Amino acid sequence: MAGAQEYVPPTLKLDALASAADECRGCDLYRDATQTVFGAGRRDARMMLIGEQPGDREDRAGLPFVGPAGRVLDKALEAAGIDREGLYLTNAVKHFKFSRAEGSKRRIHKTPSRTEMVACRPWLFTELAAVEPDVVVLLGAVAAKSLFGSDFRVTRHRGEVLHLPAFNTAVATLDPLDPAVVATVHPSSLLRGPKEDRDSAFAGLVADLRRAGSLCKAPA
Ligand code: URA
Ligand code: SF4
Repeated sequence: MAGAQEYVPPTLKLDALASAADECRGCDLYRDATQTVFGAGRRDARMMLIGEQPGDREDRAGLPFVGPAGRVLDKALEAAGIDREGLYLTNAVKHFKFSRAEGSKRRIHKTPSRTEMVACRPWLFTELAAVEPDVVVLLGAVAAKSLFGSDFRVTRHRGEVLHLPAFNTAVATLDPLDPAVVATVHPSSLLRGPKEDRDSAFAGLVADLRRAGSLCKAPA
């Protein structure tokens, strides 16, 4: 598994990056998925949100956060007073990883492996360099571990303003990038469990998003 690096072109143009990502064979996940789901949103976004990987709906639509988790995210953004239109949304891993229940057509989400996260990370680094956000929100453990390593625990670092480790992209950028980083829960974690737990988890997600919004240099 060579990783995505050799597929990343030396450009910071998002549409050129997205087209190149369509051809990525940096790990085996492209084989069973329908298509690459690259990030989407504004090039001049002040805030970038990073999820885990596309789900079933995103895999078919080719866009991030358009399924059930996306609806939870939309509600949380709205409650936090953040306009989704102003953001850049992406995932740590760009292809849907799933298994099939025996005798069923239903595709069941599987968490990407460390190797797959690392393989796909050059796309994420390049998106960060292209968008240069003031603030990055890591939605859940996969996004957080992809950037901060396997030992990172969202529960331990929630509420802190973090800083990214140094990284390289195919294009050398003039200024080292140092956005404020906030780690929070994944919106899909709010689709499970008892209602009281979901309500308090939702409030926590909204508070983290609001905090992230307050760290933007211009309105998110
Ligand atoms: N979950 C994610 O992490 N990302 C998506 O795009 C959809 C669901
Ligand atoms: Fe490339 Fe990432 Fe897809 Fe793997 S998951 S093939 S590294 S785009």
